[in-house]
Amino acid sequence: MMDNLFADRVKGLKGSAIREIFKLIQQPDVISFAGGLPAPEMFPAKELAEIAQEVLLNNGTTALQYSVTEGYGPLKEIVKQRMDKAGIGKKEDDIAIMSGGQQGIDLTAKVFLNEGDGIICENPSFIGALNAFRAYNAKLFPVTLENDGMCIEQVENILKANNHVKLIYTIPTFQNPAGITMSLEKRQKLLEMASKHNIYIIEDNPYGDLRFKGQDVPTIKSMDQDGRVIYVGSFSKILSPGLRLGWIVARSDILQKVIIVKQVNDVHTNIFAQVLATQYLLKYCIDEHIKKIRALYGKKCGFMLECMDKYFPDYCEYTRPEGGLFIWCTLPDRYDSVEIMKQSVQHKVAFVPGNTFMADMEKPCSSFRLNYSTMTEEKIEQGIKTLGEVLKSIDN
Ligand SMILES: Cc1ncc(COP(=O)(O)O)c(C=O)c1O
Repeated sequence: MMDNLFADRVKGLKGSAIREIFKLIQQPDVISFAGGLPAPEMFPAKELAEIAQEVLLNNGTTALQYSVTEGYGPLKEIVKQRMDKAGIGKKEDDIAIMSGGQQGIDLTAKVFLNEGDGIICENPSFIGALNAFRAYNAKLFPVTLENDGMCIEQVENILKANNHVKLIYTIPTFQNPAGITMSLEKRQKLLEMASKHNIYIIEDNPYGDLRFKGQDVPTIKSMDQDGRVIYVGSFSKILSPGLRLGWIVARSDILQKVIIVKQVNDVHTNIFAQVLATQYLLKYCIDEHIKKIRALYGKKCGFMLECMDKYFPDYCEYTRPEGGLFIWCTLPDRYDSVEIMKQSVQHKVAFVPGNTFMADMEKPCSSFRLNYSTMTEEKIEQGIKTLGEVLKSIDN
C-alpha cells in the first residue's frame, strides 16, 4: 500500500468532521451553525479594495517583493502598540508576524516538542492546535474544562507525575469550542505552576477582543513576570481570516527559534496582506470596527440563547458566553452528538459534534458546538427550532 510510506507523524491524523461538514454547508438551503467563520458583512471590503489599489500603485515594490521573516516593520509597530496598551509583553519580549495564529501555534510546538513530549490542553480544545501537536507526535494530556476554565488540580497532578510535559496550551478567553473564560484565579495558578515546573504556556487569544458582555479578565501574558507565556494573537476575527495575519509575543530567545523555523516554513507572511492591513490600520480606527463586530455578535448570541431557551429540551445544558463565536451544548451522557448531527443534517441543520474537539476523538461525546456569527436571526430561529425538534424526537 502506498500510504505505508507516510511518516509516522501523519499516520494518526484524520480529516476533521468539520471539513466533511463544510461540503454540506455549501448547499444553500442548509442552516449551518457548524463553521467558526466571522460574519462576512463585517469585512471592510470596500476600504481594503481602495487601499489595495493604492498600495499596488504606490508601494508595489515593497508589497510584491520578498520580505523579512519576522514581519513587516510598520505592522509589527502597530501590533506592539496594541499589545502595550493591553499590558502584553515586557522588555525581554519581542513580536513576530505569523501567517495566522495557527502558524504561531504550530511553530511554537515545533520549537519545543520532541516526539513523546507532553502538552497539557483543555478538553475540548481547538482542533487546529490539537492536530499540530499530534503531528509532532506529542503526547496530549487532556484536562477537564470547567465553567471557569481548565481544572487546575488535574494540571497539578499531571505535572507532579513528571510526564515530560513542556507546554500548556490554553485558550483562556471565549474558548473554542466552549465559549468559556478562565477565571483570574486560575490564570494566576497556571502561571505559578508553569514557573514551579519550569514549563511554558501557549496563550492562544484570537477572541479576546470580542467581548460583548461582562468584564475583561487580564491575559495570562500580562501577568507573566519571567517569560513563561508565548502569546498568540490574530487579525482573523477582528479584520479578516483570509488575509492570514496573526502574531506571537514571546521572550526574544524563544521568538528567535520560531523565526528560524518560520523561515523554513514559508519564508515570511504574505507581504501584500501585511502592507494592506497596515494601511488599513493606519487609515481607519480598528477599535471602532471591533465595537461593531462585538455589538453584532452580542445581539446574535443573545438571540440564539433566547431561541434555545424556548425550543431546546430542559435537559440540554449550554454555556452563556460573554464573547467570541461559540455556544457549547451538553446533553445527558446517553446521547451521542454524531448521531444527533446525522439526524439534524437530514433536516438541513448543521453543527459540530463534540468529539471533534476532544483529545480522544473516538469516544462518543454528548456535547456539540454551535456558532452564532454567520446566520441571520431568521435562520437562527428556524435552525434552533428544528434542532430542538430533532433533540426531542430522539428522546421518544
Ligand atoms: C482557538 C483558535 N486559535 C487559533 C485559530 C487560528 O486562527 P488564524 O486564522 O489566526 O490562524 C482559531 C481559528 O478558528 C481558533 O479558534
